[in-house]
Parts: sequence; structure tokens; C-alpha cells
Amino acid sequence: MTRFILNGQKVNTAMPEDTPLLWVLRDGLELTGTKFGCGMGLCGACTVHVDGVAVKSCSTPVSAVADKHVTTIEQIGRNRVGAAVQAAWQKLDVVQCGYCQSGQIMAATALLAKTPRPSDADIDAAMAGNLCRCATYVRIRAAIHEAAKSLAGRGVA
Ligand code: FES
Ligand code: FES
Repeated sequence: MTRFILNGQKVNTAMPEDTPLLWVLRDGLELTGTKFGCGMGLCGACTVHVDGVAVKSCSTPVSAVADKHVTTIEQIGRNRVGAAVQAAWQKLDVVQCGYCQSGQIMAATALLAKTPRPSDADIDAAMAGNLCRCATYVRIRAAIHEAAKSLAGRGVA
């Protein structure tokens, strides 16, 4: 049995302790916003936050999040930074097929929470582990800058 805090609520799972967090979220707790891509920690589709840090849930055993705070795409919009990121994503129409975008938004939110005015190099470094087959990278970078401006009070609503 592993207990952790998921999107502000205490949860527990009887799934084996070495089960990847991704499968506990998707299959055990029916939160399907977090996506399966490679299953090997290479694509970022499965990115969630563990105590505010972007983590690849496909390669994180659920035992590693015992008693920690896990946040998923379903809840990130309740966070000030996450809400700004989502608004910027909409404003700049970032999404193409959408499959990678939960992970992109989670990674971008973790970046902006730590680095409120990231440079292009900061963005490229922070987002390097999140792949997009539709190649939305230019819009992702622009949306991160837009969210940063918005959070700093200089953005257009
Ligand atoms: S599914 Fe986790 S990094 Fe690809
Ligand atoms: S929007 Fe299609 S994979 Fe990223």
C-alpha cells in the first residue's frame, strides 16, 4: 500500500510498489490526462509534478512518491502559474494533435515556478525532455514567454 497526496487529496493504492506512477494515475485512479508515450523516460508525455518538480511518471515507481504531493494536468490550472501557462497556450494556439501537451504544460509550469523570466536557453534546457511529434516547439517557447509576461503583470489578458 502506498499513500500520497494527489491534487490535494490523500489517496492510497494497493498496486505493487514498483508500479510506475503513470499506471497508478491512469489505471488505478482513472486520471487519464497524463499520457503514455515511450514508457522509458525519453519523451516527457507522462510528466507530472512531485513536490513541485517535473518528473516523468512512467519511470517513477509509486513507492518514490509516498507521502509526497503529486500534481497532474487535471489540477495544474488551479495553480497561479499553471493557469497562466494554460491561458498562454490557448492564446497562442500552441496545440496541434495535443498528445504531448499535458507533459509540455507540466514542464513549462515547473520551469516558470522556479525561473519566472526564463531566457530562450533556459526554456530549451528545461523543455529538452519533452518531445513533440507535431513540432510545436516555436509556439511552446513563445507561450512560455507569454505566460512569464502575464505573471509579471505585463501580459495582455
Ligand atoms: S512516457 Fe514517460 S517519458 Fe515517455
Ligand atoms: S502537439 Fe502533437 S505531439 Fe505535440
